[in-house]
Amino acid sequence: MRILAIESSCDETAAAVVEDGQHVLSSVVASQLDTHGKYGGVVPELASREHLRAIVPVVREALSRAGMTLGEVDAIAVTQGPGLVGSLLVGITYAKGLSFASGRPLIGVNHIEGHIHAVVMEALDAGEPVEYPALALVVSGGHTHLFEVKRESEYRLLGKTRDDAAGEAFDKVAKLLGFGYPGGPVIDALAPHGNPKAVRFTVAKMKGNTTDLSFSGMKTAVLRWFEARDMADEVALRKQLVRETPRPTVEQWLTVTPKTTLDLLASFQYAVVEELMRRIVSCVEEIGARTVIVSGGVACNRGLRAEAVPRRAGVRVLFPTPGLSTDNAAMIAAAAFPKLARGEFADMTLAAKASLPLA
Ligand code: KG4
Ligand code: ZN
Repeated sequence: MRILAIESSCDETAAAVVEDGQHVLSSVVASQLDTHGKYGGVVPELASREHLRAIVPVVREALSRAGMTLGEVDAIAVTQGPGLVGSLLVGITYAKGLSFASGRPLIGVNHIEGHIHAVVMEALDAGEPVEYPALALVVSGGHTHLFEVKRESEYRLLGKTRDDAAGEAFDKVAKLLGFGYPGGPVIDALAPHGNPKAVRFTVAKMKGNTTDLSFSGMKTAVLRWFEARDMADEVALRKQLVRETPRPTVEQWLTVTPKTTLDLLASFQYAVVEELMRRIVSCVEEIGARTVIVSGGVACNRGLRAEAVPRRAGVRVLFPTPGLSTDNAAMIAAAAFPKLARGEFADMTLAAKASLPLA
């Protein structure tokens, strides 16, 4: 069974064809980074416009790389939410058109479930399927959620961020310090050049659900650190670098970033990773997880990948390959596969949902 999927919830226009929920026949992602980078974040109106521009060629490219025509796919899947409504609408409207034109069923997919299925799909493809119960941490620019996955497609929310998503904290810190957007990849690349123990961040004490997370305290600590110093010159130099070079190399960043700032970045990343790890470790115990799934853009982070190693016998920790960690449509096709098997189809009333809880 082959599913053609479309993902347009934020700032990537993506399409993919996946066979049997495990073999990626094609995965095309058109990034809008160059459009939003100069604004220090995603501008929703521009995102919708870029999706409109990209959707037809991206879908065509996905079909052509898979060596298929629309008539040869068995279903059309699309991200229903959560995300930017204007962006989601472009993908949903186009998917409805494809479904109508081809007579193939339409399947609406939750973006967060998609991130989890990036890992489920790769584990299946590697011949070592995810074992349940699993703990899933979805950690991206929009989400930081922990779920118990009792069995495939059955989720229970264990905790989530009370304020910023982890990726959002990376992005805000990077923006404040003049590193452009998105912040995660830059901080990740520069962190090994600083001392992670140089600046201490106090960890937020949680009242109520102790599985919840918080990142705004760390972000504020960076702001205080910044305000206590005169960083105007170095920030101006970095902003100039971003204007002149859309994606500077590590070497270029190092020419405009003093050691104290590198120490700050390393310490900030260390604090975020610690916060995530603390919750992962306690949730693994709580639910007796056999697998830990870490997915979403922040799952690319090398500091997190290095820390998140199995700490108990019999527990596997799985990350998607980096191309499937950030937004893509292969994960949406993978999440749609069990729905296709169950006959869980949408119709032409399928509506975009800015917020769409998974559990
Ligand atoms: O999953 P994603 O592509 O989109 C959302 O659903 O939000 O995640 C994008 C987020 C951004 O906040 C970006 O800064 C962060 O993931 N990110 C990273 C890394 N690569 C992307 N954060 C930390 N380290 C990275 N290497
Ligand atoms: Zn995402």
